[in-house]
Amino acid sequence: MAQKIIIDTDPGQDDAVAILLALASPEIDLLGITAVAGNVPLDLTQRNARQVVELAGRDTPVFAGCDAPLARPLVTAEHVHGKTGLDGIALPEPTLPLQAQHGVDFIIETLRREAPDSVTLCPLGPLTNIATAFQRAPDIVERVRRIVLMGGGCFEGGNITPAAEFNIYVDPEAAKIVFGCGRPITVLPLDATHKALTSKDWIATMRGMGRIGEVVASWTDFFERFDVAKYGSEGAPLHDPCVIAWLLRPELFKGREINVEIETSSELTLGMTVADWWGVTDRPANALFIGDVDRDGFFDLLTERIGRL
Ligand code: RIB
Ligand code: CA
Repeated sequence: MAQKIIIDTDPGQDDAVAILLALASPEIDLLGITAVAGNVPLDLTQRNARQVVELAGRDTPVFAGCDAPLARPLVTAEHVHGKTGLDGIALPEPTLPLQAQHGVDFIIETLRREAPDSVTLCPLGPLTNIATAFQRAPDIVERVRRIVLMGGGCFEGGNITPAAEFNIYVDPEAAKIVFGCGRPITVLPLDATHKALTSKDWIATMRGMGRIGEVVASWTDFFERFDVAKYGSEGAPLHDPCVIAWLLRPELFKGREINVEIETSSELTLGMTVADWWGVTDRPANALFIGDVDRDGFFDLLTERIGRL
């Protein structure tokens, strides 16, 4: 039986690859995609999400969600993803219509309609939509099967500040609500995603895989410049596809159930995921925090699935 999921996203080249991976995988029943403001403003993230669905030749419904964090001004990341959020290659204007329903209402309605414990939420950006849905409809929280999100960091620290990873930093109040919701959570933090680095060989393989492979290669070529300049690493970290890959092949990842709290007041460490990896507090575990990924296995999966589109 395919896993029913909702992807909540701020495309972003890496979000786009994650969406393609989900669309290419028969194990996944992608009920809908809700866009959130993050890497770029909402008018672009919803447009980008529709472009990606169309690139894959699908008609998965795309909804626009929240255009700003719960309690702070929006911080975006054009310096990483470019002005459009999907810089690297020009795609045609999407013809797939944007759904009229608000993304938060779609999340609420879907969780109320589907059987309890049957829908997994896969946030790939700031957690504003998820937290807003939980605040507006507390009855849906217990119906969530699991939340599998990209965000945070432990030994890797942060990527937007020394202490915080971008998705959590943009809306720490939303992250606090999600991490405190009581449902099973799997976290794909920078500790894992910084090991999911593209290579020149993999990009060359993508370039030989038709139109979609060419687009993926162009996105990751563009996206890698920020990380190469910052970390001196070879390759772009495919952060968000790790979320979908964990759903498909969790054995490629290693982590532990630990307590994760979110800093929401300190200016210095705002948005930090305080991950108790060594269990030095008596705070109860609330998340499976992933620390490692089998890089070769991850890219073999990605290559095989992209090849199916
Ligand atoms: O810090 C990486 C995360 O922030 C990824 O989800 C990327 O798409 C951006 O949203
Ligand atoms: Ca993202």
